[in-house]
Parts: sequence; C-alpha cells; structure tokens
Amino acid sequence: MTKLLVESAPPVAVHHRPARVRALFDELASTYGAAEWLSGGQLGRWRRSLVAALRWPAAGPVPVVDLMAGGAELWAPLHQRLGERLRLTAVDFSAAMLARAARLPAAGLVLRQADALATGLPAGSAAVVTCAFGLKTLAPSVYPALAAEAARLLRSGGQLALLEFDLPSRPWLRAAMLAYLRLLPATLRHVCAEAAGHAALAQYASAGTQWLALQAALEAAGFRRVQQQRLWPGCARLMVWQWS
Ligand SMILES: C[S@@+](CC[C@H](N)C(=O)[O-])C[C@H]1O[C@@H](n2cnc3c(N)ncnc32)[C@H](O)[C@@H]1O
Repeated sequence: MTKLLVESAPPVAVHHRPARVRALFDELASTYGAAEWLSGGQLGRWRRSLVAALRWPAAGPVPVVDLMAGGAELWAPLHQRLGERLRLTAVDFSAAMLARAARLPAAGLVLRQADALATGLPAGSAAVVTCAFGLKTLAPSVYPALAAEAARLLRSGGQLALLEFDLPSRPWLRAAMLAYLRLLPATLRHVCAEAAGHAALAQYASAGTQWLALQAALEAAGFRRVQQQRLWPGCARLMVWQWS
C-alpha cells in the first residue's frame, strides 16, 4: 500500500455540467472500448482489484448497484467472482453507454438510465454499491449527493467501492503521466477522428478527483473507510467504505 498525497489544486480546468458530460459519453460510447488499450490493459486489471477488495456474502443472490456504470464494464469481473448469484443494476444517464451493455449475456443484469445521484432504486436494496471511473466528471459540490444516494441504496453492513484514475504521487511518474495525457489528444485526433472524445477524458483524468472533499462527504453521510490503496503502477485509487 503506497502513501497517498495530500491533494493540491487540479492542474487542468474541466466542465462538470451533467448535460455536457452526458453528451460527451453519448458521443464516445461507440469507441469507449479503446480506453482499455489506451490504458495498456490497466483498466481491466483495476476493475478486478475492486472486485477482489470487497467482502462478499458466502451464499445467496448478491444485489449490486453499479453507479455511472457505462457499458457495465464491471459486469465481467463481478460475474467471474459471483457467477449466477450476481444481480447487477447498472445505472448510467447515457443511453448510448448503456447500449454497450447489450453485448453482455443478460442473466442477472438490469440496465437503468438515471442520474447516479438520484437513481430512484429502492432504499436498502444493495449489498454493494460500486463506482468505477465515474468520479472524475462529477463536480465536488455533488459529492454529498453521491454519498447520500449510496447510503440510501445500501442495506445495513453494505459496502461502497470507489475506483478512479489518480495522478501518481512519485514526481517522475506524475510528470510522465501528465505528459502522456497531454499528448493523447493530438495523437488520437491524428489516428482516429471518432476517438477524439477520449481526449476530453484525458483532461478529466488530469484534473483528477478531489479526494479529501469526497472523503469528507462520505464520512458526513455515515460511511466508515475500511480500505484505501493506490493501484499499480500508482495511477488509480481504490477506496472501500462500510455502511453501518
Ligand atoms: C468513464 S465512464 C465509466 C464507465 C464504467 N464504469 C467503467 O468502468 O469503464 C463514466 C460513466 O459515468 C456516466 N455518468 C457520469 N455522470 C453521471 C451521472 N451523474 N449519472 C449517471 N451517469 C453518469 C457517464 O455517462 C459514463 O458512462
């Protein structure tokens, strides 16, 4: 486990307006799969780390709500761990991103087009709430709403797992990552115009998540942090929180 940095001001200014974020994902849904190879396969590995970090019930159906689920990219590692016991509700406000999930075997998967901050799902219905790579496009001002919705969804003793890209703490790695994220837009535009939307994702990744504000919002909502780790090679952060 690596020591985490105290956060500073984001190096890049980005827009967090929901309509703009939704339009961005509607646009890049058809090429979202490219994010996997742009990350050198790390995204899949980090998602598997999220699943491995959680404590799962030993028997019976396991209801999981995945917030900002995109194309339900967490379904595969969750299904690998839980098999037919998985009951996954994938929540996303982009219909185009949710449509990507249509390629998955449908058993145990429900798609819900909704705002992650107000899903309309029944209270206390989830053993686990997950969110992978959705934090970076959220304004810090809505972190309390996210915390409140996760708390509302979880049943007693449930867990919340948050995974997001994070700038590395080692200076040389941080500089290398920022350089990569700066170069990415131009390269993408050159190689494939349709994938240019990924340039905006690189900008959100550079701006990063306001981790201390998020942590404060979760604690204020009644969560207790049980785990926080930086995932190899230091470019992602995984947090697991316990609901009372
Ligand atoms: C970077 S993608 C992550 C997708 C997936 N979780 C993964 O592991 O790759 C972020 C997703 O969050 C969704 N999103 C962002 N803000 C949202 C909100 N307030 N409500 C619902 N979905 C949201 C976007 O539409 C997008 O599909």
